[in-house]
Amino acid sequence: MPEFVGAVDQGTTSTRFMVFDHAGNEVAKHQLEHRQILPRSGWVEHDPVEIWERTNTVIQNALRDGGLSATDLRAIGITNQRETTVVWDPRTGRPYYNAVVWQDTRTDSIAAALEREGHGEVIRHKAGLPPATYFSGGKIKWLLENVDGLREAAEAGHALFGNTDAWVLWNLTGGPNGGVHATDVTNASRTMLMNLETLDWDDELLGIFGIPRAMLPSIHPSSDPEAYGRARTSRPLGAAVPITGVLGDQQAATVGQVCFSPGEAKNTYGTGNFLVLNTGTELVRSRHGLLTTVAYQFAGSPVVYALEGSIAVTGAAVQWLRDQLKIIRSAPDSEQLARTVEDNGGMYFVPAFSGLFAPYWRSDARGAIVGLARYNTGGHIARATLEAICYQSRDVVEAMEQDSGVHLDVLKVDGGVTANDLCMQIQADVLGVPVSRPVVAETTALGAAYAAGLATGFWRDTDELRSHWQESRRWDPQWSEERRRDGYQDWKRAVERTLDWVRVD
Ligand code: G3P
Repeated sequence: MPEFVGAVDQGTTSTRFMVFDHAGNEVAKHQLEHRQILPRSGWVEHDPVEIWERTNTVIQNALRDGGLSATDLRAIGITNQRETTVVWDPRTGRPYYNAVVWQDTRTDSIAAALEREGHGEVIRHKAGLPPATYFSGGKIKWLLENVDGLREAAEAGHALFGNTDAWVLWNLTGGPNGGVHATDVTNASRTMLMNLETLDWDDELLGIFGIPRAMLPSIHPSSDPEAYGRARTSRPLGAAVPITGVLGDQQAATVGQVCFSPGEAKNTYGTGNFLVLNTGTELVRSRHGLLTTVAYQFAGSPVVYALEGSIAVTGAAVQWLRDQLKIIRSAPDSEQLARTVEDNGGMYFVPAFSGLFAPYWRSDARGAIVGLARYNTGGHIARATLEAICYQSRDVVEAMEQDSGVHLDVLKVDGGVTANDLCMQIQADVLGVPVSRPVVAETTALGAAYAAGLATGFWRDTDELRSHWQESRRWDPQWSEERRRDGYQDWKRAVERTLDWVRVD
C-alpha cells in the first residue's frame, strides 16, 4: 500500500508540492514562485500557463528530492489561492486572458453598481458575501465584457471558468483529453454565485452577473473519493494517482489546524491575513463585516460553515518595505529594524493598498501613515507595519466575537509571518489573548493532504488528525490593559483617515 499523501498548494506568490506521512510529517517539498503581472495601478494578474508549468516542476522535483515515485502516493489533494479567476478554451487548453487575481481592483465599478442597483442584499443573503472586487463573479463578468468574442464562446460551451484549483485539476486529469472540470464547495463559496444553502450555482445570482452556467465547474465536497478523477498517466506524475481532496487555501489551513469544532479558529499570516472561525453546521450571517463561507465538507458528512475575516494586506506590507521603500533587505529584517525602537513613536500605518477588506469593505480606502513627527525613524515604520498586521487582526477578532458570541481563549496561528517573533508578541499584546503556533507550520498543504487522505481511508477520522497537532511556541500578552485600549483607539482613528480617498463611480 502506498505510504504517503501529496498536496499541491497553488498560492498567490508560489506553487508548492508537499508529501506527508501517516503522522502528518513532511517528507518532501518543492516550491517555485511565479510572476506577479501588474499592468496598471490596482491590476494584478498571473499567467495560468506559467502556473501549470510550475505545478509540473514542483511535483516532479519534490518526488525526485524525496526519493519517491508517484506510486508511493495513495492520493493527492489540491489547495489554492481562492477567487483568482481563469477562463480557458477546453478545446485547446489555452486561457483567454491572464488570471485576474483576488487582489485586483479593476472591478470596482462592477461592485459599486451591484450595490447601487439594489443587488447587494440578495448577494449577501444567498452567497454570504458583500459585493466587492475580491470575489470571482465580478471578475468573470469583466472578462466576458472585455475579452473579444468571449461571451459568444462561453454561450457556445467553448469557455470554462475555474479558480486555480479547477485549472490545475483540469490539466492534471488530462486537459483537452478528458480533463475533469470540477471544484469544491469552499472555492465555489467565494464566487458570489453559489447559494450557501443549496450548495449549488444559483440562477438568480448567475442572472445578476450575466454568467452562462455552462462555464462553471461542477461542485463537490472538499474530500471526495470519486468526483475529481485521477491524474493522467503522462507528466508530471506518470501514474493514475487519485485526486480526492480539493479546497481553498484558507479552508485547508483550518483543516490543517484541526479546527473541527464550532468555536475553533485559526489565523493565517501570508500576503494577507485570513481568520477563519468554524461555526459548525449552522450558517451564521455576519452583521459586522465578516464573510459567511464554507469551512469544508467531507464526503458523506454535512457541510461545515465558517465566518471569515479576510485582510488584503499584511505580509505584503512588509514586502512593500523591502521592495518599494527599500528600508529592509529581506522580510525577516523587519523584526530587527522594529526592535531598534521601544514602541511605534506615535505612528500608525494602515496599508489599505487594495482598499480595506474585513470588516470595513471599503474599496475607496487607500493606505496612510499618520502621526508622523521628525523624531520618527525607519524603526518606527517597521514597528508600525508589524502593528498594522496585528491591529487588522484585532479588527476581525472583534467582529467575530460580536457576530458569533465566541470569545477566543487562544489564537492558533500559521503562515510565513509567524516566524517573526516580535510580530507574534505584538499580536498577543494587541489582542490580550495568547497566540499559539503548531509544529507543522505548513498547515495549508497539510489540510489538503488531510482532505485527500480522509477520502481514501489513509486517515480514519478527524480524531486521528487531531492527535497529530502539537504546539511549538506560545506568546502570552504583556501589555497593560490601558496600553492595549489606547493603542487600539488610535488605530481606529488612523483607519478613519484612509476612507473616502478614491472616487468610485
Ligand atoms: O482569498 C485569497 C487567499 O486564498 C490567498 O491566500 O496564501 O495564496 O495569499 P494566499
